[in-house]
Amino acid sequence: MKKVEAIIRPETFRTLREKLEEVGINGLTVSEVAGCGQQKGQQGLFRGNTFEIKLLPKVKVEMVVESEYVDEIVQIIQETCSSNTVGDGKIFIYTIEDAIRIRTGESGKLAII
Ligand SMILES: Nc1ncnc2c1ncn2[C@@H]1O[C@H](COP(=O)(O)OP(=O)(O)OP(=O)(O)O)[C@@H](O)[C@H]1O
Ligand SMILES: [Mg+2]
Repeated sequence: MKKVEAIIRPETFRTLREKLEEVGINGLTVSEVAGCGQQKGQQGLFRGNTFEIKLLPKVKVEMVVESEYVDEIVQIIQETCSSNTVGDGKIFIYTIEDAIRIRTGESGKLAII
């Protein structure tokens, strides 16, 4: 099992959600976050001398899926969330040891479908 964590532009979330639903991804966690990348939050040409780190609003989407779905999900995120400009976001992939559905006690694959 893997966790796909995507930090994306907030305005791309709605479409991403729809696309993920189309391929059967239902369980996910979404958070409103703030962050910066290699431009330190600067969106365009910077005038003046003081460089200040700015935090920009982003949406973090986390989903735990069977490993075989990761490539497809990454592709969907790239297609949906890219405007080909700085700040489009980032995807992190984690290995997940286990998952348990609290109601039934099911674990592993059974807990995430
Ligand atoms: N190394 C990182 N660790 C954790 N979060 C990160 C990291 N890099 C980026 N992020 C998160 O992703 C968001 C979007 O990053 P962003 O797309 O600006 O990355 P970038 O590396 O600057 O790439 P680009 O040059 O395309 O802008 C940031 O606001 C931050 O929340
Ligand atoms: Mg950036």
